[in-house]
Amino acid sequence: MLDEKITQISNDFDSELQSVQSLQQLEELRIKYIGRNGLVSSLFDDLKDTSKEEKPALGKALNSLRNKVITDFSSLKLKLESSSTSKESKIDLTLPGNQEQIGSRHILTQTLDEIKTIFKGMGFSIQEGPELESDYYNFEALNFAPDHPARDMQDTFFINKDFVLRTHTSPVQIRLMEKHKPPVRAIMPGRVYRNEAVSARSYCMFHQVEGLYVDTDVTFAELKGTLVSFAKQFYGDNLKYRFRTSFFPFTEPSAEMDITCFLCHGKGCKVCKQTGWLEILGCGMVDPNVFKYVGYDPEKFIGYAFGMGIERTAMLKYGITDIRVFFENDLRFLKQF
Ligand code: PHE
Repeated sequence: MLDEKITQISNDFDSELQSVQSLQQLEELRIKYIGRNGLVSSLFDDLKDTSKEEKPALGKALNSLRNKVITDFSSLKLKLESSSTSKESKIDLTLPGNQEQIGSRHILTQTLDEIKTIFKGMGFSIQEGPELESDYYNFEALNFAPDHPARDMQDTFFINKDFVLRTHTSPVQIRLMEKHKPPVRAIMPGRVYRNEAVSARSYCMFHQVEGLYVDTDVTFAELKGTLVSFAKQFYGDNLKYRFRTSFFPFTEPSAEMDITCFLCHGKGCKVCKQTGWLEILGCGMVDPNVFKYVGYDPEKFIGYAFGMGIERTAMLKYGITDIRVFFENDLRFLKQF
C-alpha cells in the first residue's frame, strides 16, 4: 500500500515539476510536497502504521523520495532564478555603455589661453578691468575729442550720460597706468560691446586683448618685433604680414597689422574684399596726451600699445567665416575644437 503511494507521489511530482514555469509555481509545488503538511511529509505519518518487517525498506524509500524532491526542487529553483533576473531587469551586458559627455573649453577660451601663453613668454603680465566703464576711461583719458564720432550712439551702448559698456579694452590701459609707475608690461583681455547690427562680420559683444608696454626706451621696432613674433607663434612661421599706417586717438603714430587672407591665400576674394589681406590688430606708440591723464611724464616715458579681437584671431586661424557661431553654442561647431 505505502510503497504504491510512494511510487505514485514520486511520479506525480516528476510530471508536475515538468510544467513549472515560475518561481511562484515552484514554491507552491514545494509546499504541496514537502511543506509541513505536504504529501511527502504525510507519508512519514503513514510509516508509523506499517509492520516491523516493512518499515526499514519503506523508510529508506521515503527518505530517498524526499531527498530527490529536495534536490530537483533546488536545481530548478537555481535555473529559474538566473533566467528571471535577465528577463525582468532587461540588462544586456554586451551592449556598449552610454558614453559620458565630457565638456571642453570653448574655442574662444582656447584661443585666449594660447595668446596669453605667447605673451607671458615675452614678459607680459595679465590684467583685467570692468566692462561697465565711465566715459572718462573709455574715451576721455584715451584722448578722444569730445566730438569724436566713436562716441556716437551708433557704436556705443550708453548706460547713461556718464557710463557706457566699454567699446574696447583700451580703458584698462588707463586703469593700469594710474595704479602702477613704469615699467609696465601687460596684456588685458576681456569682453567689449558695440551697438552694431549683428551680421556674419560683426556682433554686439566680442572679446579683445589689449597690450601695453611703457618704459624709458621703448621703440616702434620693438612693437613690430613683438607683434611679428606673436603672429608667427600663433599662425605659423611662414606667415606673411604687413603694417599699414592708421589712426587711433590714443596712439601716435598708429598702425594696423594685416596677414594674408586665410581663404584665398593672397589672391583676392570676397572675405578680404579682393585685397588678399586681412587686418588682425591695431597698434601704435602711446600718445603723449594719454600719459598726461595718468600722471606719467611724457618727456621721460615712452610706450606702445596694441589691441586685437579674439574672435577675429580665431576666425583667421581656423577659417571661420561667421562670427555668430561663437555665441550660438551649437555642439556641431564647438566639438570641432
Ligand atoms: N582699441 C582699438 C580698437 O578697439 C585697438 C587698439 C588698441 C589700437 C591699442 C591701438 C592701440 O580698435
